[in-house]
Amino acid sequence: MDVTLSRVDRLQGNLAVPGDKSVSHRALIFAAMAAGRSIVRGAAHGADVASTAASLARLGLDVPSGPVPRLLSVEGLGWQVAREADLDAGNSGTTMRLLTGALAGRPGRFVLSGDASLSSRPMERVASPLRRMGASLSLAEGGRPPIRVEGRPLRGIAYDIPIASAQVKGAVLLAGLQAEGPTSVAEPGASRDHTERMLAWLGLPVSIAPGSVTLAAGKHLPLPAFELDVPGDFSSAAFWVVAATLVPGSQVCIEGVGVNPSRTGLLEILASMGAEVEVIPQAAEPELVGSLRARAAGLRGVRVSGGVVARTIDELPLVAVAATQAEGVTTIRDAAELRVKESDRLAVLATGLRGLGADVEEAPDGLSVRGPTLLHGGRVESAGDHRMAMAFAVAAMVAGGPVTIGGWEGTAISYPGFLDDLGGLAS
Ligand code: S3P
Repeated sequence: MDVTLSRVDRLQGNLAVPGDKSVSHRALIFAAMAAGRSIVRGAAHGADVASTAASLARLGLDVPSGPVPRLLSVEGLGWQVAREADLDAGNSGTTMRLLTGALAGRPGRFVLSGDASLSSRPMERVASPLRRMGASLSLAEGGRPPIRVEGRPLRGIAYDIPIASAQVKGAVLLAGLQAEGPTSVAEPGASRDHTERMLAWLGLPVSIAPGSVTLAAGKHLPLPAFELDVPGDFSSAAFWVVAATLVPGSQVCIEGVGVNPSRTGLLEILASMGAEVEVIPQAAEPELVGSLRARAAGLRGVRVSGGVVARTIDELPLVAVAATQAEGVTTIRDAAELRVKESDRLAVLATGLRGLGADVEEAPDGLSVRGPTLLHGGRVESAGDHRMAMAFAVAAMVAGGPVTIGGWEGTAISYPGFLDDLGGLAS
């Protein structure tokens, strides 16, 4: 589906964005692992979290099909799941990788598959540590899905992840909940820490240090039932933070957003580019929550590399869009992971932004963007990737002519109401 967007005069107002996708996936899985009734309020209602819910339903959890309701009350399974299940993770890498870890220690046979995009994404990164824990897993050719899991008794390991990944870390920790002995994971750069933060909040013996986490030995399942308010998704709020920065005269406040520091690298980058974004914190557990206030500001180019990349992993496309409007060169490096997300985001960005007149060079692990450029109208392809479609929508808001974005339907993955929110802020 195509959507055509035109330049906006300014963005103004307050809004709330959909619930945090990463926290929602984990909340649902932990609710299924719990004994008793858990309540999850404000989970993400996009297609990705619906894939986790549908997979858990196939494993025996009594959850409604379709988008996850705002108020979810669910009786846990204590992780006593069906002995055989075919699970469809749809477009969601998080569903596939976390559930593979969670099921590796369950007696039974499970097959996890996904759509065309997910079927082309690397899964050896999750299979390899789980095999070291004693799991029996097989992958399709090239280490791709479907993943076939035959549950086995597991042992804890100390694992050094070669590339920072919250999905791999999460999978190992979820397997570790069912393993004999302690499980620890160390990462070269700290990825988002929702899994360990939520487990510690549930009272599990988890010790968290920068770049590493250890789950002590013990019988951890079933988890205790819980009540959780899911904060707004920083990655969805990020579109408005960048849009308000770029569109002259704008001022936008996004309320109740998760501002976990392992997610907010974009704010560090924008600050160094000269943006004016304020975080107004509110007390909350287990995730930090705050309101984000952004206003229009002139930007300068910066270099983005090293540890901040993992903290900005889903927002780097927005950094590239912002860079087209910044004075000077913005260089993004150490970001080869973007090539194995829902699309090859470096290639899709380079082609799309160049098609709108931007000066972009592609490197194996990043992009260099020289600005500022008055973008012109045209057609861009999002490759069905939700975050790419919405990043191009932000580019359209400052382009000189209408921009047609192909594959807009992908936005249902994380932000089904994006255009309604744009209408509210631009009116
Ligand atoms: C996610 C982790 C990230 C991120 C994805 C969600 C998660 O992937 O890109 O959108 O919920 O664990 P990696 O940390 O595996 O790179």
